[in-house]
Amino acid sequence: MQNFSQSPTDPHFVQDPYPFYDKVRAAGDFIWWDDYNMACAISHKTVHAVLRDRRMGRECPSELAPAIPEHLKPFFNVEAHSMLELEPPRHTRLRALVLRAFTSRTIAALAPDITALCHDLIDKFPDAPFDLLTAYAQPVPVVIISRLLGVPEDRADDLVRWSNAMVAMYQARRTPQIEAAAIAATNDFVAFMRGYIAKRRKTPTDDLISTLIAAEEDGERLSEDELITTCILLLNAGHEATVHTLGNGTKTLLETGVTAITEAAVEEIIRFDPPLHMFTRWVYEDVAIGDHTFKRGDQIACLLAAANRDPIAYPAPNTFDPTRKDPQNTSFGGGIHFCVGAPLARLELRIALEVLFARCSNLRLEGQPHYGDVYHFHGLEQLMVSTK
Ligand code: HEM
Repeated sequence: MQNFSQSPTDPHFVQDPYPFYDKVRAAGDFIWWDDYNMACAISHKTVHAVLRDRRMGRECPSELAPAIPEHLKPFFNVEAHSMLELEPPRHTRLRALVLRAFTSRTIAALAPDITALCHDLIDKFPDAPFDLLTAYAQPVPVVIISRLLGVPEDRADDLVRWSNAMVAMYQARRTPQIEAAAIAATNDFVAFMRGYIAKRRKTPTDDLISTLIAAEEDGERLSEDELITTCILLLNAGHEATVHTLGNGTKTLLETGVTAITEAAVEEIIRFDPPLHMFTRWVYEDVAIGDHTFKRGDQIACLLAAANRDPIAYPAPNTFDPTRKDPQNTSFGGGIHFCVGAPLARLELRIALEVLFARCSNLRLEGQPHYGDVYHFHGLEQLMVSTK
């Protein structure tokens, strides 16, 4: 396996990581990324295979579980109940409960609500140039996931603040300030959820939190801590990635002049410039993949965005082609952790972009947008546009 070094906070890389992916893909299915001290799956075939291989998973092997420093415990105590960090049987139980509420019928029924919300937000667009992220890309997924869970929309600003602070724990550039902010946000978020769940226990409605409480009370072994973490995971995962796919996608559409928003165009947006570039897996038993062998306790990073630009899977992969067909991109992951919210994200993206381009025929970029220094996330700091 060939070694490569590339700082994930290097400004050129942050703005455009794709040339690095193209360079290292030529070295084979796996590379060793020195800065992460980790093997990385690069090709579409290998990323696809690793994500689905049950000899690997998200949960850290128990003998390798790192000692959590006292000051970070509040954050990791919440993480400890997250389905994204667990394997069966706990993962199966938690995911099944959520999937019960995320049926295709429930998601499809949100369409009129999403459409109306998009129109309301566009009605408020100012005449002068403005940031489309805060005016549109952020409120659409935040309001919809809040409504789905049943969290009051007037807490949306708090949710965004808490979520941003917590998610920052996973970026390459992590400082004591980032950690302190994440802990404060975790404590506030947990306290809010605990209070809110107590309220919903007394007066249940038809929202997701009430459904999960009912599952807990039916003795389905969903503890209150699991309930809190699941709600936090859904609120965080339910908007962060969608906000940035909407931002990155609008930028691409404006740069390429594509305005017809078909399902294929939405899929191409998700392939071309996704918001999450890396997900890791722990190896549970000795395995051989291609020419490489891994042993229990190794970690493999799946470079989702690199797999999406593999020329073996996608002809002319660096071209944005809204008519492109198979194979499915890897932006939503794969295997048992495949994104629970993918149908909701796809629906939000299609409606939000359709309404935006139908209503704002003169939409254009105001200046060159910049990506935030937050790898392995890949999203814009702001997206200045004008509509006149
Ligand atoms: C374009 C938007 C989105 C992208 C690109 C995205 C991407 C991902 C990825 C890459 C994973 C991890 C898969 C893996 O490790 O194999 C994931 C998991 C997850 N996502 Fe999403 N996501 C998006 C939107 C959403 C939304 C809207 C929700 C909730 C409403 C959501 C909820 C989740 C949850 C709960 C998991 C954990 C699933 C599990 O561990 O079984 N995501 N997502």
